[in-house]
Amino acid sequence: MKIAVLGLGRMGTAIAQRLAQGEHELTVWNRSKGKAEELVRNGATEADSPEEAACAAEVVVTSLANDEAVREIALGDRGLRSYIGGRAYVDMSTISPRLSEELGRTFEIFLALPVLGAPQAVTAGEATYLAGGPEATVGLLSPLLGSLGGHLKRYPRPGQAATAKLAVNLMLLAGVATLAESMAVGREGQLSDDELTDLLCGSPMLAPGLKNRFEAVLKGSGAAWWTTELGAKDAALAVQAAGRSAAKLRVAPAVRDLYQAAADLGFDNEDIAAVSRLYR
Ligand SMILES: NC(=O)c1ccc[n+]([C@@H]2O[C@H](COP(=O)([O-])OP(=O)(O)OC[C@H]3O[C@@H](n4cnc5c(N)ncnc54)[C@H](OP(=O)(O)O)[C@@H]3O)[C@@H](O)[C@H]2O)c1
Repeated sequence: MKIAVLGLGRMGTAIAQRLAQGEHELTVWNRSKGKAEELVRNGATEADSPEEAACAAEVVVTSLANDEAVREIALGDRGLRSYIGGRAYVDMSTISPRLSEELGRTFEIFLALPVLGAPQAVTAGEATYLAGGPEATVGLLSPLLGSLGGHLKRYPRPGQAATAKLAVNLMLLAGVATLAESMAVGREGQLSDDELTDLLCGSPMLAPGLKNRFEAVLKGSGAAWWTTELGAKDAALAVQAAGRSAAKLRVAPAVRDLYQAAADLGFDNEDIAAVSRLYR
């Protein structure tokens, strides 16, 4: 397939790298230059604008930071909707269910496809994709979905896929924050890092998704897969998505504020594990 990938952040680059391994003609675009070099060396073409990239493709994929970025690129004055024609549009960003539904109403062929998993899982073909949209669109996109590999969960509507993504992210964000607080409690009671590792790593309470970040939470830093800034954004979206139930949420607003505090302290471009520095 001829595929355009718009947005070459950590996730967009992983998606493009994975697709580049398939039998596709890949065109890529990123707002700031200098992020496409390796992809170009591996056969992709870099476009100068989203329009140039989209016009070279049958399917346009976006992987962008937040609602504002997706709104600008998809629905802005010179956005995708003004030139995409009958091509398919797949949004893989983590955005609000409301915006995802709006994209579904605006574009003739649209699939919400948020990603569960780190960029490394995408590259390895081990991520889970939450596909929200009609069955016919999933069928049309089967060459792209086949190349991504991993697992596919199906939802009839784009907003449901976006909601599913936020529900999972909230669990991980809250889990990392709770792990950081458990360590703070242990340290206050004179438990060493070795004792904490022995105690918590061996505990059935530590979910596999948290085990992956144990060392980083213990040390307060690690490779940045998913930044505190994006974590704060996702927790805020979860609170917003809870709608009328939001008034009853207690943990999600606290989680949002914690990651926002970490981002405001200058850890905005560090992994969510950096939230543990709030406790030092
Ligand atoms: N990283 C993960 O583990 C992970 C996992 C699942 C889902 N996601 C989701 O995937 C999406 C991308 O995440 P990421 O980790 O790749 O983030 P990232 O590394 O921070 O990259 C963000 C991307 O968005 C672009 N962007 C931001 N504002 C823009 C605007 N106004 N117009 C055009 N482009 C804009 C950036 O362009 P510049 O380079 O020019 O700044 C960059 O390409 C997010 O929605 C995130 O929540 C991430």
